[in-house]
Amino acid sequence: MIVPHYRPSFSIREITAVRDVIDSGHIAQGKRVAELEFALAEFIEKKFGIAVSSGTSALTLALKALKVLPGDEVIIPAYTCTALWHAVKAVDAIPVFADIELKYWNLDPGDVKRKMTTKTKAVIFPHMFGQPGKILDVIDFGVPVIEDIAQSIGAQINDQPAGRFGSVSIGSFYATKVIGAGEGGIIFTNDKTLENYLRDVREYDEKETLFPRVNAKMNDITASIALEQLRRLPEFTARRKQIFKQYESVLKDRVLIPVRDSGFQSNLYRCIVSHPEKTAEELIQLGKENGITLRKPVYKPIHMYFKGNNLKNTESAWKKQVSLPIFPDMTDFEVNRVNNFLKQHFSQL
Ligand SMILES: Cc1ncc(COP(=O)(O)O)c(C=O)c1O
Repeated sequence: MIVPHYRPSFSIREITAVRDVIDSGHIAQGKRVAELEFALAEFIEKKFGIAVSSGTSALTLALKALKVLPGDEVIIPAYTCTALWHAVKAVDAIPVFADIELKYWNLDPGDVKRKMTTKTKAVIFPHMFGQPGKILDVIDFGVPVIEDIAQSIGAQINDQPAGRFGSVSIGSFYATKVIGAGEGGIIFTNDKTLENYLRDVREYDEKETLFPRVNAKMNDITASIALEQLRRLPEFTARRKQIFKQYESVLKDRVLIPVRDSGFQSNLYRCIVSHPEKTAEELIQLGKENGITLRKPVYKPIHMYFKGNNLKNTESAWKKQVSLPIFPDMTDFEVNRVNNFLKQHFSQL
């Protein structure tokens, strides 16, 4: 039996919630979507939540809301999901790649500053792998920052929730995320004008005016699953902590993420390690031979799809880092198998 990298965690609560929505006869965007928007906005301490169809549509609409126009530049990391690149391209803006720093493995404020020009209209700052990064330094530069908590719902910076800092923030409910509902996304803001725009633009029907809108709505079935997953978040986090403690007892300072820093607290979405003598590919292969699915935390850094870009830290992280299975549904048997593998390959270092 192979230990997967991730398996979703569903209970009778999600099943009952979905059945209730179906029984109600109303499955389109409605009461459950509104409830999810309210609960999550409260959780991350923003005034408004606007649910949409995916994290990518959340990013695209956030850029539109901030009036990022064709030809404007948007700074993004390359060590991230390609969704960021797609969102910037969707508004015909120019993605500009910045490197990561080596403490939290997130956007390096110094490199963001170097990449800023008069055309820079926004920065997208994802806290990757559940680990918050130095977003406050980037906010100080005075350009609107979209805080991307697709991977970091539940993480904290100085005891405040990740997501509360950006001019606009976004989340994702893709199947493998901390709150997994198949697909789905959400945008957060404190600005009433942006909220009105986002509620309007996500749906096209029955309007008094006509301008290019989209269909990026969430439905009540998705929202009902996401709501139950949000309610179970403390339980999920507790289990992730238990698993991480076991890994940490073997890995010690080979753990790269979560970073030991009480001010920048990870939600334990990912546990990322590197081996001094092995590349990521070699470790992944070793895992395979032992029935354990290890993965690169990022499939391929975005700048590597293009010639002539060079981001030193991003490339070195990508060559060495692997992500271990850590998910709430993991059985003790699976955790022990991963831990035995770690003992075999990391304990003598
Ligand atoms: C950091 C980050 N931002 C945005 C997204 C896009 O989210 P979605 O898959 O819901 O479109 C993802 C990937 O899922 C992501 O990891």
